[in-house]
Amino acid sequence: MPEIPYPLVTERLVLRRFTADDLDAYYAYQKLPDTARFLLNEARSYTECMARIARFVDAPFAGPGDWATFAVEWRHAPGFIGEIALKWGVGGREAADGQPVERVGEIGWTVAPGVRGRGVATEAARAVLDLAFGGLGFRRIEARLDARNDASAAICQRLGMKLEAVMTDNMYLKGEWTSEAVYAIIREAARAEV
Ligand SMILES: CC(C)(COP(=O)(O)OP(=O)(O)OC[C@H]1O[C@@H](n2cnc3c(N)ncnc32)[C@H](O)[C@@H]1OP(=O)(O)O)[C@@H](O)C(=O)NCCC(=O)NCCS
Repeated sequence: MPEIPYPLVTERLVLRRFTADDLDAYYAYQKLPDTARFLLNEARSYTECMARIARFVDAPFAGPGDWATFAVEWRHAPGFIGEIALKWGVGGREAADGQPVERVGEIGWTVAPGVRGRGVATEAARAVLDLAFGGLGFRRIEARLDARNDASAAICQRLGMKLEAVMTDNMYLKGEWTSEAVYAIIREAARAEV
């Protein structure tokens, strides 16, 4: 079972475990319809946010289906500003036949409106990819997004993820049919990006 070595520290950011103190700042953007516009969920209530943070705080990262959700803050200014989630997906290879563990997963990101346009999501996601392809033994990580979510697609491209599929009208979301884009990167390509 991989241990997540909290905190991850980047040039400008710290990625750490969530705490109960993050609730107000988390709710401040999760309650906005604009944040949820391209997400499967609706804008979230305070109670829903409370329950989610309670789960994030000590969520196990022990097998397929588990998520590790990192709280992001500036290194030099305290306070929660966003989140990066890493899912341990179904379909990897666990230790067997002397072969190394190779896992597959998914990544997602949301940052507060006040810090968008400054590369926070890209920098934080890059740190999580580095960890996943390094110590956590991941081979492939994908991102699934509403094909209209240009800001999210731009992050995928900055991270070196490749567009593998666009599934036309595969979900009815918030009153309209939308298409889903799948971006992915495998370990060798991620290492070549460095
Ligand atoms: C998707 C989302 C995280 C993108 O946020 P973002 O701030 O645009 O993304 P980044 O943090 O990578 O910042 C990129 C922007 O910062 C700029 N930037 C400034 N400094 C930068 C740096 N050091 N590195 C990279 N980009 C930098 C880029 O040029 C880009 O600006 P642009 O949008 O004018 O081209 C944000 O819109 C969001 O939280 N949306 C709601 C939730 C959501 O849809 N999540 C995705 C689900 S798939």
